[in-house]
Amino acid sequence: MNWYTNGNCYFVEELPVSEASKGKFYITTPIYYPSDRLHIGHTYCTVATDTMARYKRMQGYDVMFLTGTDEHGQKIEDKAREAGKTPQQFVDDIVTGPRGVLDLWKLMNISNDRFIRTTDDYHVAAIQKIFKKMYENGDIYKGKYTGKYCKPCESFWTESQLVDGKCPDCGREVQDAEEEAYFFRLSKYADKIQDLLENTDFLEPRSRVHEMVNNFIKPGLEDLCVSRTSFTWGVPVDFDPGHVVYVWIDALFNYTTALGLYNDKYNDYDKFWPADVHFVGKEIVRFHSIIWPAMLMSMGMPLPKKVFGHGWLLLDGGKMSKSKGNVVDPYILAEMFGVDALRFFLLRTFPFGSDGNFSNELLIQTINTDLANDLGNIVSRTVAMAQKYFGGTLPAEQVADDALDANLIEMVSGLRDRYEAQMEKYAFQNALSEVFNVISRANKYIDENAPWVLARDEANKPRLARVLYNLLETIRVCGALLLPFMPATSAEIMKRIGADRYDWDSLNQYGLLPATATVTDGPNLFPRVDMDKALAELEEAEAAARKAALPALEIEPYAQEQVDFDTFCKSDLRAVKVKDCQPVKKSNKLLKFTLDDGTGTDRQILSGIAMYYKPEELIGKTLVAITNLPPRKMMGQESQGMLLSAVHTEQGEEKLNLIMVSDAIPAGAKLC
Ligand code: MSP
Repeated sequence: MNWYTNGNCYFVEELPVSEASKGKFYITTPIYYPSDRLHIGHTYCTVATDTMARYKRMQGYDVMFLTGTDEHGQKIEDKAREAGKTPQQFVDDIVTGPRGVLDLWKLMNISNDRFIRTTDDYHVAAIQKIFKKMYENGDIYKGKYTGKYCKPCESFWTESQLVDGKCPDCGREVQDAEEEAYFFRLSKYADKIQDLLENTDFLEPRSRVHEMVNNFIKPGLEDLCVSRTSFTWGVPVDFDPGHVVYVWIDALFNYTTALGLYNDKYNDYDKFWPADVHFVGKEIVRFHSIIWPAMLMSMGMPLPKKVFGHGWLLLDGGKMSKSKGNVVDPYILAEMFGVDALRFFLLRTFPFGSDGNFSNELLIQTINTDLANDLGNIVSRTVAMAQKYFGGTLPAEQVADDALDANLIEMVSGLRDRYEAQMEKYAFQNALSEVFNVISRANKYIDENAPWVLARDEANKPRLARVLYNLLETIRVCGALLLPFMPATSAEIMKRIGADRYDWDSLNQYGLLPATATVTDGPNLFPRVDMDKALAELEEAEAAARKAALPALEIEPYAQEQVDFDTFCKSDLRAVKVKDCQPVKKSNKLLKFTLDDGTGTDRQILSGIAMYYKPEELIGKTLVAITNLPPRKMMGQESQGMLLSAVHTEQGEEKLNLIMVSDAIPAGAKLC
């Protein structure tokens, strides 16, 4: 297969070639599901995209930076119902409400040019046209979606998802069922996609290419279900009432409708499409590198130049998830440590293409080492010395000393190019390392030149002035290159050193700061953070936020029917101590408890609480069980009783707490 590139994007031969405009740069984030408040993982991707957009603007590109929200689908419909809201009210609250998505991006100083919501009218109408076009060109056809259906859960499952032939969620029988649906002929594009992935640099990092080809293309690409009739919260298929467009066509084409494809709201499609890069998390690389190009080929549209799959921020080695209760709230961190410190930390600490373990300790360490010690220090020391020795303005008479200055000047002069080489590879961490290597070198340069010694002798003043000039010039270049990462801090640094030129072209020219620049002091850019104190404060703030998010408990109606005392007393409630707790294989709900119930023989109880607790958290705890229920089988294993718990909903999501009693109560104690 022959690939054609105009230097800006790839086309397969038969696709139309558009003259890509010079000097434009179009970058996108995924559009986020507003099924919950966004967390630090979403913030990570948006901050990276913002940093790239700011960097490209700085280089002189005409940038279009798009982000937005993906608001349709069954999950949102279900969550809205649980929250007692319409789906539109539900998403409005998360997107435009207080501390919602828009507020978060404003807080994080995100410079997106456009924000798309898939519920926007212009997008909905455009998706209908796109769907119809693909139907008319024969790439979308009507078929049957067959699967296994669990009636109580109202869920479709594939054969391979079943556990012992039963519903993986509730363990009950499932039935064969089919639903009329439209399909996209993904299979038709398999060869072209494989070629695109293997023979171009469309998808990066390269390791993701092998994953896509081996896991998805080689086993055989199946056609993709693109409409559903079992829920209504989506873009209606206008030529077949009852069908709604199933998420991915709706979601992926946002990148083009937001430019004006098939709508009059915007007019930039010809200018900005194809995208220069889509930043996406690793789990949606498949959709962007297989399904998206296939759909674009079907529409006869140019393909994006690149898809970059970044890694996840993990917490305790696992994925953050609201239902596990282990998400990190970016608001709390930004409010406590500052927006720029948080932005910097995210890109300095984790290589963009790989997963990284988030921790508050790491955040504080990074602030203290890079920002307080290195960057903050060089700025405050240099400004303070310029004020102390020269009243804030360096004299024009300066004396260079090649032996002492050459190495620093050489490092600073080449910095912009080294930084650029890394940024062009989306290697944010490496670009920052280049800057911080120079900052460390400059801190060493202070010690080597000992300005405080030079200052003792009036005759050394011209040399002292040059030492301080070299430091200020280093700060100008480093501080300006930090602009995409920390826009507010960078501007403040330029102000303090009196730099009037810090545009891209000025950054590989050593010596552009006027020799007689005037410095201004100010408060510490990054005060040192006391680790223990900050960790305690964070814990407090997180607990307060959790409490504030708790809705007033909806009291279920009290039972009207009375139960006589003797009947009640027949329920045998006992304190039981957890000796062991294990997940049940192939079930994502059940945990198996081995309990000491005081009888000397272990009691086994199965409980559907795996979404709320990790097994190891429960070992050693004393719980409350009803022990005289008839034994019953769950997933083929016997359960001898039931553990008591309290259930409530929080932001439309079910939460559960097991009832625990003091360890002082011995196993087997009867509760009354
Ligand atoms: N709506 C789809 C994307 C459609 S794009 C046409 C979606 N939404 S999402 O809200 O679930 O995820 C959005 C992005 O956030 C994904 O790229 C995902 O990888 C990213 N992240 C979610 N949690 C994350 C981390 N813990 N760490 C890094 N990124 C993570 O998928």
